[in-house]
Amino acid sequence: MKKIIISTGGGDAPGLNAVIYAVVHSCYRRGWEVYGSRSGYKGLLDLDEIRHLTIENVEGIYATGGTILGSTNKGNPFSTPVENLAGEIQIVDVSDRILSNFNRMGFDCHIAIGGDGSLDIAHRFSLKGMPVIGVPKTIDNDLEATDRTFGFDTAVSTATEALDKLHSTAKSHDRVMVVEVMGRDSGWIALYSGISGGADVILLPEIPFDMDAVCKKITNNELHGKHYAIVVVAEGASVKGGHVIDKGEGELGRAEKVLGGIGEWVATEIRTRINKDTRSLVLGHLQRGGSPTTFDRLLALRFGAAAVRLIESGNFGQMVALSGSCMVPVPLSEAITSRKKVNLQSDKVLTAREIGICFGSPED
Ligand code: F6P
Repeated sequence: MKKIIISTGGGDAPGLNAVIYAVVHSCYRRGWEVYGSRSGYKGLLDLDEIRHLTIENVEGIYATGGTILGSTNKGNPFSTPVENLAGEIQIVDVSDRILSNFNRMGFDCHIAIGGDGSLDIAHRFSLKGMPVIGVPKTIDNDLEATDRTFGFDTAVSTATEALDKLHSTAKSHDRVMVVEVMGRDSGWIALYSGISGGADVILLPEIPFDMDAVCKKITNNELHGKHYAIVVVAEGASVKGGHVIDKGEGELGRAEKVLGGIGEWVATEIRTRINKDTRSLVLGHLQRGGSPTTFDRLLALRFGAAAVRLIESGNFGQMVALSGSCMVPVPLSEAITSRKKVNLQSDKVLTAREIGICFGSPED
């Protein structure tokens, strides 16, 4: 009999519950017990936040968004901000306490479901001696070690549906609609939704853009009788020579700043430069919400089941990954080394250019 604990860390992504479902069922078949740690490592830190997960608890959750365990993108156990008696914030390392709770509770393995930040933490626990298996999640699809992360397909579907709807209103008012999508430093959501949703312009973090090129595309549209345009801009995109726009000071206990504002910046530039009626909108967390698509559900269920097979074979310190059509283990040490960027030579980028989409570069 084995005793497994699961946690979900970082921003939520549709498919987290499907992983939990698959882990609970795969463990049940083997006669193993599964527990969930609330809000990332909080459960393991304060033991009252650990819950036993049974087949009954997870009934039907494979089809639901969010995570039944809760998640957080603040509070790395290796550097946790804590308020002392004088009201000052001190950074403390609570990883030893988590590891000793893990051992005291008699857990055999921790399945850590997360993006690059959470997987980095999982790797550090693995180096401290905790048997860990990582499961990759993020709507940003920016983990190099796996062909896909779950959550991405759902986010792209949501963004594409939004673009489909914006065409009719943009056309009715002869307007430019600038749509800001998520993705941090990688332009996957912008690229996939922009191509599929009929964007005229896609601005990616991987291609610093030129506003002259963007405006030229919109005025060329006018010459061809198209009086509206859809511009998709990734939150991490920036103008050539400029910088990524964020929401100011970072949040306490959070490694990265919250991005946002580039959509409105681009809209203002278009309005000022070519005097065209322009509106911007931020799709924001809509992209993280809702039920996982069939693709994400299936991928998440496969990741969950593959994670349990890895535990059975005693192959710890690994992350499950999708390679082609197969589930493969990748050492956590390799999985966290680099972020996956859009390949500018890929056929998707070529396709976009062939069908007339502008990336805001002078050669478009
Ligand atoms: O990493 C997933 C993600 O949704 C990014 O695309 C986005 O920049 C960030 O999380 C938003 O984080 P929060 O939910 O804390 O605003």
